[in-house]
Amino acid sequence: MVKHAIAFYGIPLLVVTMAALGGTGRVLAKRRRGSILSRKKKRMMILAANGALLLIPAAWFLHYRASTGRLDGVFQLVQIFELAVGLIQLNLMRLNVRDGRMLGRAPRQA
Ligand code: HEM
Repeated sequence: MVKHAIAFYGIPLLVVTMAALGGTGRVLAKRRRGSILSRKKKRMMILAANGALLLIPAAWFLHYRASTGRLDGVFQLVQIFELAVGLIQLNLMRLNVRDGRMLGRAPRQA
């Protein structure tokens, strides 16, 4: 029940939230440039690609397999893969928070 809710409500919510984060970031970045910003943008591209191409398909696969009771070796392998990519995502987000806080302190152009 909870896992079903995560797969069907949590994932769309996450996608919308991440898109909003990218959108607001872009608005804040409009009149600024620099290496910190381009690092953040590059990370955001990787985050989005990992999420859309790897994590979401893997989550759906795991959800489907779990609902049909096929918890075999492939299931476990995909689970490990999902966890590993999830850790990479967390780290990319941590770096974006760190760089964002630096941007918050940096002097702005008028
Ligand atoms: C996972 C994605 C992201 C996270 C977690 C994130 C996080 C943050 C955080 C924590 C701050 C500091 C706010 C403060 O202390 O005042 C910040 C600031 C900022 N971020 Fe992001 N950010 C993300 C994506 C982006 C993207 C994609 C861009 C631009 C394309 C961006 C541009 C900015 C700018 C320009 C600031 C400085 C805001 C200001 O004080 O004027 N961010 N971000």
